[in-house]
Amino acid sequence: SALEKEGFDHFMLKEIYEQPRSIRDSMRGRLKAREGIVLLGGIIDYQQKLVNAKRIIIIACGTSWHAGLVGEYLFEELARIPVEVEYASEFRYRNPVIYEDDVVIAISQSGETADTLAAIELAKSKGATIIGVCNVVGSSIARATHAGSYTHAGPEIGVASTKAFTAQVTLLTLMALMLADSKGTISKSRFNQLLHELDDIPGKVEETLKVNDKIIEIATVFKDVRNALYLGRGYNFPVAMEGALKLKEISYIHAEGYPAAEMKHGPIALIDEEMPVVVVATNKGTYEKVVSNIQEVKARKGKIIAIVTEGDETVKALADHIIEVPETEEMLVPLIATIPLQLLSYHIAVMRGCNVDQPRNLAKSVTVE
Ligand code: G6P
Repeated sequence: SALEKEGFDHFMLKEIYEQPRSIRDSMRGRLKAREGIVLLGGIIDYQQKLVNAKRIIIIACGTSWHAGLVGEYLFEELARIPVEVEYASEFRYRNPVIYEDDVVIAISQSGETADTLAAIELAKSKGATIIGVCNVVGSSIARATHAGSYTHAGPEIGVASTKAFTAQVTLLTLMALMLADSKGTISKSRFNQLLHELDDIPGKVEETLKVNDKIIEIATVFKDVRNALYLGRGYNFPVAMEGALKLKEISYIHAEGYPAAEMKHGPIALIDEEMPVVVVATNKGTYEKVVSNIQEVKARKGKIIAIVTEGDETVKALADHIIEVPETEEMLVPLIATIPLQLLSYHIAVMRGCNVDQPRNLAKSVTVE
């Protein structure tokens, strides 16, 4: 049954390996690449509200907030709508400015997070339209929204969110594409190209999972570190944040995710020969800049673990450890680059003897504030 570990040692590992299927499930009946259609039945009645939105406010907590950050890049690039990504707990208590033509997208795996629910009620009382992106069908948040799309990732048991995250990112990608198409902010040919590439993502995630043995080797080297830094730029910035959160949650190693260029404004002070720096370096647009960020780390003897696109030469020559992932469109990279970071945190936590599925002090859903 869906609630068994199916031969995996932990639910988390099972859920990591389910992602080719869960991403496919979240696109089923919605992405029709051959026909050039994105159809999100659950929000169709509110599609015009989204098209006319002057602003999108994304509210979420934890990993779902990281998915929201990816959403910010997607909606702004594709649909040219300004986006703000808010921690629900901060948003709800600061008397935020909310307009009636704002669309709020609330992201929640469980659909029960107290702060997210309260933020929705607040935005609703100010007249905004609320769209939900939830995994649990019939959950409180799903019921509180005007409309929404379920992520259909299936039940997630591991406290550290994995497949729910990639499903959320998939859904936000579909929404951004649908909006771009209806607003005319994307050409038909580019739209179709992205649809086909998105359709290929489950296969590429399958391919990416083959890095597991390599990750075990890397985990063996770094399992006893006390700190780690995760860097990324653009679409890979939220990926870095999420990678760091995964490591913290289940291995209890202090980790920080940072936009690579911000490193010089603080975290660079921490770098010495003890410090592993995980760099998500698949970028096309800012590749040279990421390379120079890596050089800055190397100059201070930090250890580089780099996620690169297959065939990469430049970063390979600089990094201490390389994880190669299949090439894709830059905006779809989070769906690929997240996978090795999930596996890295998993293996390190297992090697440290941590309770991976139920880490100390954490709850799967936080129903109190
Ligand atoms: C808890 C969980 C996280 C999750 C966050 C938000 O902290 O441990 O994995 O990302 O809540 O949960 P939600 O269900 O709203 O996505």
